[in-house]
Amino acid sequence: MPATCVVGLQWGDEAKGKIVDLLADSHQFVVRFNGGANAGHTVVWGDRKFALSLLPTGVLKPHVTSVIGNGVVVYPPRFLEEVGKLRDGGVPVGANLVVSDHAHVIFPYHMEEERVAEAEADGKIGTTGRGIGPCYQDKVGRRYGVRVGELLHPTHLRERLKQIVPVKNRLLTAFANGHTDALKTFDANKLCDEYLGYADQIRPHITDTARLLHDALKAGKQVLFEAAQGSLLDVDHGTYPYVTSSNSLPAGIWSGTGVPSRAVTRIIGVVKAYTTRVGRGPCPTELLDDTGDRIRKIGREFGTVTGRPRRVGWLDALTVKYTAALAGADEITVMLLDVLSGLPELKICTAYELDGQRVDHFPSDAFQLERCQPVYETLPGWTEDLTACRKPADLPANARRYVDRIGELVGLPVSVVSVGPDRDQTILMK
Ligand code: GDP
Ligand code: IMO
Ligand code: MG
Repeated sequence: MPATCVVGLQWGDEAKGKIVDLLADSHQFVVRFNGGANAGHTVVWGDRKFALSLLPTGVLKPHVTSVIGNGVVVYPPRFLEEVGKLRDGGVPVGANLVVSDHAHVIFPYHMEEERVAEAEADGKIGTTGRGIGPCYQDKVGRRYGVRVGELLHPTHLRERLKQIVPVKNRLLTAFANGHTDALKTFDANKLCDEYLGYADQIRPHITDTARLLHDALKAGKQVLFEAAQGSLLDVDHGTYPYVTSSNSLPAGIWSGTGVPSRAVTRIIGVVKAYTTRVGRGPCPTELLDDTGDRIRKIGREFGTVTGRPRRVGWLDALTVKYTAALAGADEITVMLLDVLSGLPELKICTAYELDGQRVDHFPSDAFQLERCQPVYETLPGWTEDLTACRKPADLPANARRYVDRIGELVGLPVSVVSVGPDRDQTILMK
C-alpha cells in the first residue's frame, strides 16, 4: 500500500503546492495532516492561479478525494470561504472533500488569544494570526478543545461552549491586563448559533477519515500526503520556539491521519533554490542587502497568507541535509531556480562558525543558531532566462552545476527542477 509524502525542507513556502498539484494527477487521495489556514499553497495553470490555505491542493482535481486529517485545525468560516471561492471559479467541490470528525475547531477566541500573546514584546513569534497555536494548545490541554464531530450535536455543543467561553473571557481579560487595544470577549450562545450555521454546511464533508484512508490503501489507491509549513517549523525538530504548533515533518502523518508511517514509501523533499522565512527566528544565511531585495522582488516573496515580505537568504545546504534526514527524504526537488538568473555568483552555506569554531551539524537550539555565521561555497551564476527550459539539457551549464552541487551537498538525487510557477515550467531530471 505505497503512499507518497511531499514535505518542505526549509521554513515553508518551498513551492510544495506546485509539486502536489503535479503529482495529484496520478493519485486518488491528497491528504493534509497538519496545520490549518496558516499554510498558503499557490498553484498556477496557465493564466489561472489558485491559492489554497486550509484545503488540500488536490481539491482542484475532481478525480481526487481531498482529506483534511485529524491533525489539522479547522476554522469553519475559512473552510466555507475557500470552498465558495473554488466553486465560483468553476471548480466543483462536493463529496470529493472530506474532513475528519477528530480535527479540532478554531474559534475566534483562539485568534484573540494569539493577538494578545503576540502583542507582548517578549512573546512575539511572528505568527500568521490564524489561531493555530491556541487551538493546538486546547487540543493538548483537553479541557477546552472542540472537535469537528462535536459541531454536529447542537445541545452538546451549546453546553461545551457555555463551559468554555466564560473561562476564555476571564483568561483573555487577565492576560491582556488592560494593555491590549480593544480586547474582544465572546458570548457562548451567539458563538454556538454561528457555529451551528457553519456545521449545517460542513456536515456532508465530515467523516471518519482514518477509516477512509485505511480502506483506500487496502484497495490499492494512490495516496499523497501534503505537509504544510516546512521541516524547520516543526514543533519538535524546528527552530523552537520560532516554529508552528504541529509536526510538519512526515512524522505527523501517523498521528495526524491514523495512517502508519510504513505505508509511506516515497518522501519528496521540496527545496527552494534559496532560503526564505516569514516571521521571527534565526535565519543564518539571511541577506539584508540589495541581493536579498532583488531575490524577494523577482521571486515575489511576499506571504500568501499575511502578505508580509518574506526574509530572503542564500541556500543553506547544511540545514537542508539535516531536514532531509529528519524527513527521511528519498529525493529532492529544486524550486524557483529561475529567480537566481542574472546574479554574478551564488553562495551555498555548507557549515557554520560559532565562537570561532567550525560547526558541521545543525545546532539544535534556536538561540545557538542565532549566533552562527554561515560558511559559504561560491559558485558562478548564469545570465540566461530559465523560464522556457523544459529538459535538463536546456539548463545553462552553471545552472546545472548549481543544481548538481545542491544534490551532492544534501546527499540525495534531484528529481525535479522548477523554473517558473506554471505546471509546464518543470524539468524532470531523471
Ligand atoms: P508552498 O507553501 O510551499 O506551497 O509555496 P507557496 O505557494 O507559498 O510559495 C511558492 C510561490 O512560488 C508560489 O507563488 C508559486 O506560484 C511560485 N512558484 C512555484 N514554483 C516556482 C518556480 O519554479 N519559479 C517561480 N518564479 N515561482 C514559482
Ligand atoms: P506553507 O504551508 C511559511 C510561520 C509563521 C510564523 C510561524 C508560526 O505555506 O509553507 P503559526 O501561525 O503557524 O503559529 O506561525 O510559522 N508559518 C509559515 N511560514 N509558510 C507556511 O506555510 C507557514 N505556516 C506558518 O510565519 O513564523
Ligand atoms: Mg506557502
